[in-house]
Amino acid sequence: MSEEIVIATNAGKEERYKALLPQIDALVEGEPNRIANLANIVAALKTALDFFWVGFYKVYGDELVLGPFQGPVACTRIKKGSGVCGTSWLQKQTIIVDDVDQFPGHIACSSDSKSEIVIPVIKDGDVQLVLDVDSDRLHHFDEIDKQYLEMLCSKIEGLI
Ligand code: SME
Repeated sequence: MSEEIVIATNAGKEERYKALLPQIDALVEGEPNRIANLANIVAALKTALDFFWVGFYKVYGDELVLGPFQGPVACTRIKKGSGVCGTSWLQKQTIIVDDVDQFPGHIACSSDSKSEIVIPVIKDGDVQLVLDVDSDRLHHFDEIDKQYLEMLCSKIEGLI
Protein backbone atom coordinates (compact mmCIF):
# COMPACT_ATOMS: atom_id res chain seq x y z
CA MET A 1 0.00 0.00 0.00
CA SER A 2 1.26 3.46 -0.84
CA GLU A 3 1.37 5.71 2.21
CA GLU A 4 1.37 8.87 0.18
CA ILE A 5 -1.80 10.76 -0.73
CA VAL A 6 -1.62 11.77 -4.39
CA ILE A 7 -3.84 14.62 -5.63
CA ALA A 8 -3.31 16.59 -8.85
CA THR A 9 -2.22 20.10 -7.89
CA ASN A 10 -4.62 21.69 -10.40
CA ALA A 11 -7.63 19.59 -9.29
CA GLY A 12 -10.83 21.31 -8.17
CA LYS A 13 -12.61 20.49 -4.93
CA GLU A 14 -14.87 17.73 -6.26
CA GLU A 15 -11.97 16.09 -8.14
CA ARG A 16 -9.95 16.18 -4.94
CA TYR A 17 -12.65 14.39 -2.98
CA LYS A 18 -13.11 11.84 -5.78
CA ALA A 19 -9.39 11.12 -5.85
CA LEU A 20 -9.13 11.04 -2.07
CA LEU A 21 -11.89 8.63 -1.02
CA PRO A 22 -10.44 5.49 -2.66
CA GLN A 23 -7.03 6.41 -1.26
CA ILE A 24 -8.54 6.55 2.22
CA ASP A 25 -10.03 3.08 1.66
CA ALA A 26 -6.55 1.80 0.82
CA LEU A 27 -5.00 3.66 3.76
CA VAL A 28 -7.20 2.00 6.39
CA GLU A 29 -7.52 -1.42 4.74
CA GLY A 30 -6.38 -4.22 7.03
CA GLU A 31 -5.68 -1.89 9.97
CA PRO A 32 -8.02 -2.58 12.91
CA ASN A 33 -6.79 0.18 15.23
CA ARG A 34 -9.39 2.94 15.33
CA ILE A 35 -7.11 5.74 16.53
CA ALA A 36 -4.50 4.96 13.88
CA ASN A 37 -7.14 5.02 11.14
CA LEU A 38 -8.79 8.25 12.32
CA ALA A 39 -5.38 9.91 12.63
CA ASN A 40 -4.46 8.97 9.07
CA ILE A 41 -7.88 10.04 7.76
CA VAL A 42 -7.53 13.58 9.14
CA ALA A 43 -3.96 13.79 7.80
CA ALA A 44 -5.22 12.67 4.37
CA LEU A 45 -8.02 15.29 4.46
CA LYS A 46 -5.56 18.02 5.41
CA THR A 47 -3.18 17.00 2.61
CA ALA A 48 -5.88 16.71 -0.06
CA LEU A 49 -8.10 19.70 0.81
CA ASP A 50 -5.71 21.94 2.76
CA PHE A 51 -8.23 22.60 5.53
CA PHE A 52 -7.33 25.07 8.29
CA TRP A 53 -8.43 22.58 10.97
CA VAL A 54 -9.84 19.09 10.63
CA GLY A 55 -10.44 16.56 13.36
CA PHE A 56 -12.69 14.17 15.22
CA TYR A 57 -14.46 14.56 18.52
CA LYS A 58 -15.64 11.36 20.23
CA VAL A 59 -18.75 10.98 22.37
CA TYR A 60 -18.05 10.09 26.01
CA GLY A 61 -21.20 10.29 28.13
CA ASP A 62 -22.70 13.78 27.72
CA GLU A 63 -19.55 15.28 26.21
CA LEU A 64 -17.48 15.28 23.06
CA VAL A 65 -13.76 14.80 23.67
CA LEU A 66 -11.07 15.86 21.21
CA GLY A 67 -9.63 13.04 19.10
CA PRO A 68 -7.16 12.87 16.21
CA PHE A 69 -6.86 16.21 14.43
CA GLN A 70 -4.64 18.38 12.23
CA GLY A 71 -4.30 22.10 12.83
CA PRO A 72 -3.93 24.48 15.76
CA VAL A 73 -4.61 23.25 19.30
CA ALA A 74 -8.33 23.02 20.04
CA CYS A 75 -10.78 22.86 22.93
CA THR A 76 -10.81 19.39 24.43
CA ARG A 77 -14.42 18.99 25.67
CA ILE A 78 -17.77 20.12 24.24
CA LYS A 79 -21.14 19.50 25.90
CA LYS A 80 -24.05 17.96 24.00
CA GLY A 81 -25.96 20.81 22.35
CA SER A 82 -23.04 23.27 22.65
CA GLY A 83 -21.39 24.94 19.69
CA VAL A 84 -21.61 23.60 16.16
CA CYS A 85 -20.20 20.18 17.14
CA GLY A 86 -22.57 19.66 20.07
CA THR A 87 -25.53 20.82 17.95
CA SER A 88 -24.65 18.41 15.12
CA TRP A 89 -24.52 15.63 17.72
CA LEU A 90 -27.88 16.65 19.24
CA GLN A 91 -29.60 16.99 15.85
CA LYS A 92 -27.83 13.97 14.31
CA GLN A 93 -27.23 15.93 11.15
CA THR A 94 -24.58 17.78 9.19
CA ILE A 95 -24.34 21.50 9.88
CA ILE A 96 -22.74 24.01 7.53
CA VAL A 97 -21.90 27.40 9.04
CA ASP A 98 -21.02 30.07 6.47
CA ASP A 99 -19.96 32.60 9.11
CA VAL A 100 -19.15 31.31 12.58
CA ASP A 101 -19.89 34.73 14.11
CA GLN A 102 -23.52 34.29 13.06
CA PHE A 103 -23.94 30.88 14.74
CA PRO A 104 -25.36 31.33 18.26
CA GLY A 105 -23.08 29.57 20.77
CA HIS A 106 -20.26 28.87 18.31
CA ILE A 107 -17.16 27.77 20.23
CA ALA A 108 -14.13 29.65 18.91
CA CYS A 109 -11.06 27.47 19.31
CA SER A 110 -9.17 29.83 16.99
CA SER A 111 -10.01 33.40 16.06
CA ASP A 112 -8.82 32.56 12.52
CA SER A 113 -11.67 30.11 11.99
CA LYS A 114 -14.38 31.75 9.83
CA SER A 115 -16.62 28.97 8.53
CA GLU A 116 -17.22 25.38 9.50
CA ILE A 117 -18.87 22.06 8.65
CA VAL A 118 -19.62 19.31 11.16
CA ILE A 119 -20.72 15.79 10.14
CA PRO A 120 -21.92 13.21 12.68
CA VAL A 121 -20.78 9.59 12.47
CA ILE A 122 -23.82 7.54 13.49
CA LYS A 123 -23.69 3.83 14.35
CA ASP A 124 -26.62 1.76 15.61
CA GLY A 125 -28.69 4.95 15.79
CA ASP A 126 -26.27 6.81 18.07
CA VAL A 127 -23.70 9.49 17.27
CA GLN A 128 -20.27 8.03 18.04
CA LEU A 129 -18.03 10.75 16.62
CA VAL A 130 -18.29 14.06 14.84
CA LEU A 131 -15.97 15.17 12.07
CA ASP A 132 -15.30 18.92 12.38
CA VAL A 133 -13.71 20.96 9.59
CA ASP A 134 -12.85 24.65 9.94
CA SER A 135 -11.82 27.15 7.30
CA ASP A 136 -10.08 30.50 7.64
CA ARG A 137 -12.36 31.78 4.85
CA LEU A 138 -16.05 32.70 5.08
CA HIS A 139 -18.55 30.56 3.08
CA HIS A 140 -15.94 27.87 2.44
CA PHE A 141 -18.22 24.81 2.67
CA ASP A 142 -21.05 23.81 0.33
CA GLU A 143 -23.11 20.83 -0.81
CA ILE A 144 -20.05 19.22 -2.41
CA ASP A 145 -18.23 19.14 0.94
CA LYS A 146 -21.40 17.84 2.61
CA GLN A 147 -21.89 15.09 0.02
CA TYR A 148 -18.32 13.76 0.11
CA LEU A 149 -17.69 14.20 3.82
CA GLU A 150 -20.96 12.38 4.59
CA MET A 151 -19.80 9.60 2.25
CA LEU A 152 -16.53 9.47 4.17
CA CYS A 153 -18.35 9.37 7.52
CA SER A 154 -20.49 6.47 6.25
CA LYS A 155 -17.28 4.56 5.57
CA ILE A 156 -16.02 5.44 9.05
CA GLU A 157 -19.16 3.88 10.56
CA GLY A 158 -17.78 0.58 9.30
CA LEU A 159 -14.42 1.18 10.99
CA ILE A 160 -15.59 1.90 14.51
N1 SME B 1 -16.12 25.48 16.57
C1 SME B 1 -16.49 24.24 17.18
C2 SME B 1 -15.52 23.84 18.27
C3 SME B 1 -14.42 22.97 17.81
S1 SME B 1 -13.20 23.82 17.04
O1 SME B 1 -13.70 24.56 15.90
C4 SME B 1 -11.95 22.84 16.58
C5 SME B 1 -17.90 24.33 17.72
O2 SME B 1 -18.49 25.42 17.76
O3 SME B 1 -18.43 23.30 18.14
